[in-house]
Amino acid sequence: MDLNLTSKTAVVTGAGRGIGLATVRALTAEGVRVVGAARTLTPELKDTGAHTVSADLSTAEGVAALMSEALDTLGGIDLLVNNVGAGDDMDPCGFLDTDDAHWSRVFDLNLLSAVRATRAALPSLIERRGSIVNVSSISARQPTSGPVAYSAAKAALTALGKTLAEEFGPLGVRVNTVSPGAVRTPVWVDPDGYGGKVAARAGMDHATFLEQMPPAFGIVSGRITEPEEVAALIAFLLSDVAGNITGADHIIDGGTVKTA
Ligand SMILES: NC(=O)c1ccc[n+]([C@@H]2O[C@H](COP(=O)([O-])OP(=O)(O)OC[C@H]3O[C@@H](n4cnc5c(N)ncnc54)[C@H](OP(=O)(O)O)[C@@H]3O)[C@@H](O)[C@H]2O)c1
Repeated sequence: MDLNLTSKTAVVTGAGRGIGLATVRALTAEGVRVVGAARTLTPELKDTGAHTVSADLSTAEGVAALMSEALDTLGGIDLLVNNVGAGDDMDPCGFLDTDDAHWSRVFDLNLLSAVRATRAALPSLIERRGSIVNVSSISARQPTSGPVAYSAAKAALTALGKTLAEEFGPLGVRVNTVSPGAVRTPVWVDPDGYGGKVAARAGMDHATFLEQMPPAFGIVSGRITEPEEVAALIAFLLSDVAGNITGADHIIDGGTVKTA
């Protein structure tokens, strides 16, 4: 299938590794000119040939700096992937251990980064009849599978996608949400990441934890999702091949979510 994305321009947040990096690779392979942002500009991101911006996207200033540089570099934005999320505060702590500062940081990164980037990109997206994909999580639908603040922030992000699609659809902008289940990224596979912390809480060594994830999470395909599979879905939704798909939440979880 030809996605026909050549000559388009894109901004991808959280692009240094994981789903964001895979998305930058998928889009550059399609001939898209990409600006990718994270705090750490990894060698893998630089290797994609994308223009890179180092910014803390949990702050208004960081998002403003990224979007201003992206508009200058690309001359306009056709495609926006609000992928940044999870981050430093991804911790398996309960409600009483989540103070106001923690809630604010989680919402800044997982929700307000997308709000701010979208606000800055919209004039260009409207002019170019562009497309947005927000990367949420199945935690939006089954909140107990993630930390309390993270699940709430992702639920808000999923709702935001719907309202943006409604308001800007008549102006030619499509907005979709991609909600992954567990994906093979450092969030799970880094022993110091969220997966490592959850394993420690369960009194399990990390390797055993990773092995038992599919049955324990009810993943009927028997494996977690690869970042490239999420990136392919994002690229499809951004493209005109998906021209009449908007305001929808696309789950990619190997069958984890059991509701219809
Ligand atoms: N992995 C999963 O199982 C899974 C499941 C459902 C949803 N998701 C969602 O998918 C998205 C990507 O997740 P992932 O697993 O690919 O994450 P990841 O592997 O941890 O990568 C996150 C990327 O975002 C960047 N980042 C984190 N905090 C940042 C900040 N404050 N400012 C700028 N960049 C920042 C990281 O680089 P720096 O730290 O160097 O900045 C990195 O490049 C997230 O929204 C996550 O919630 C993931």
